Amino acid sequence: MLLPIFAPVMANENKLQNIIAHCKEYGFIFQSSEIYDGLQAVYDYGQYGSELKKNIRDYWWKSMTQMNDNIVGIDAAIFMHPTVWKASGHVDNFSDPMIDNKDSNKRYRVDHLLEAHAETLPKEEGDALLAEMDTLLAADDFAGLKQLIEDNKIKCGISGTGNWTDVRQFNLMFSTEMGSVAGEADVVYLRPETAQGIFVNFLNVQKTGRMKIPFGIAQTGKAFRNEIVARGFIFRMREFEQMEMQFFVRPGTQKEWYEHWKETRMKWHLSLGISPDRYRFHDHVKLAHYADAACDIEYDFPMGFKEVEGVHSRTDFDLKNHQQYSGKKLTYFDTELNQHYIPYVIETSIGLDRTVMMILSEAYQEEDLSTAEKQDSRVVLKFPPMLAPIKLAVLPLLKKDGLPEIARELMNECRSEFRCFYEEKDTIGKRYRRMDAIGTPFCVTIDHQTKEDQTVTIRHRDSMQQERIPISSVKKLVLDKTRAF
Ligand code: GAP
Repeated sequence: MLLPIFAPVMANENKLQNIIAHCKEYGFIFQSSEIYDGLQAVYDYGQYGSELKKNIRDYWWKSMTQMNDNIVGIDAAIFMHPTVWKASGHVDNFSDPMIDNKDSNKRYRVDHLLEAHAETLPKEEGDALLAEMDTLLAADDFAGLKQLIEDNKIKCGISGTGNWTDVRQFNLMFSTEMGSVAGEADVVYLRPETAQGIFVNFLNVQKTGRMKIPFGIAQTGKAFRNEIVARGFIFRMREFEQMEMQFFVRPGTQKEWYEHWKETRMKWHLSLGISPDRYRFHDHVKLAHYADAACDIEYDFPMGFKEVEGVHSRTDFDLKNHQQYSGKKLTYFDTELNQHYIPYVIETSIGLDRTVMMILSEAYQEEDLSTAEKQDSRVVLKFPPMLAPIKLAVLPLLKKDGLPEIARELMNECRSEFRCFYEEKDTIGKRYRRMDAIGTPFCVTIDHQTKEDQTVTIRHRDSMQQERIPISSVKKLVLDKTRAF
């Protein structure tokens, strides 16, 4: 038998486009409101995308809550009292420097404009430009940023001119009105991060859960940002999901906990089976208004290294401000120290959609399977089995001779434990390819021999190896191989 030849056949630049097309073709991700030509930077998850997303969310949730005695989860509302966002600093500070082109009226985020230009320059020049940009951003030097754009003769992609406005700040929160009487309704915001739902519930959870510091509160949920330049598929969206955990610690111990969570979160990423050289830490030069240390965990996406998660040492900024704005005490009594204090907070904040994109980028492979006798290839999503949308495909070889009945019986035995898929149409080869394309780690074929000796053929997605095993051992094998913990 000739062995298949495995060779990646795809340049990096095409990879993102190929992934987007694949996600649409196989029911992972669709443009939102597609029949109305879509809504920019908003996406819907289809039948397999929603399963993948749920599996990632569950894995994160379990690693935080189930695997740590001192971390509990909550589910806070998206709408919050408007003063929350005053206290958190988002009303005054949650903005990006923007610049408009006067001829096209197109608005750009200044850092994105400069980053795009830096990519067109030789590496050393590009790096120097980015370093200068970082310094100006850190100093909030808007005149300097405009000068940098003009000095580099950066033009608007639409009008082709360099006729720019001054650089201004633009708040990214969406607002709406709550209340039934027009004109008298209160302005409320769609939360731009889930974290504030945790801060305002800090004492509720600490008291009712009798939590002792250090302890954490975890949450997953939607967040909304009116991103001006929203691009890169599900990398930067206007409606997205976050998975955040605030870890409350004794003041003065935040540095060691910050290091602890940096390391713990990197281990979580590596537990997805992704190689360490696909990640790097990026320490923040310009710290957010609430932080005394912060870094990004960056992953090597098809468009280069970009942030997938942030680890932030948020000091006591949020609790202190909520105490001040609400007039309610938010202190913790530390029985060991016999002292009241406002805890410090280390936050781990990861975008769920960005993690979906990371997992898709890592899993997507175009393989050349040609042999001397025939040309062949496949697209396969090599998901970690625990994250795969479908764990097991059950495929009767024929639609007759009692084979579908045996297959249905196996489906019924397994479906309460993990997601199965039944398919009897097309040749077995075509069915395998369809399962490869949605990342199903195991396919089981029921044939005439099954009737004689109660064995089936199990096919492994990544190696494409097939083996004969008793039908009675299928459920346990799949459970063992797809279990997260
Ligand atoms: N509570 C802190 C916080 O929200 P952040 O760095 O602004 O920090 C955390 O966001 C994570 O949320 C990011 O690392 C990213 O994965 C995700 N995220 C932020 N903005 C996003 C957007 N517009 N679209 C998709 N994901 C986003």
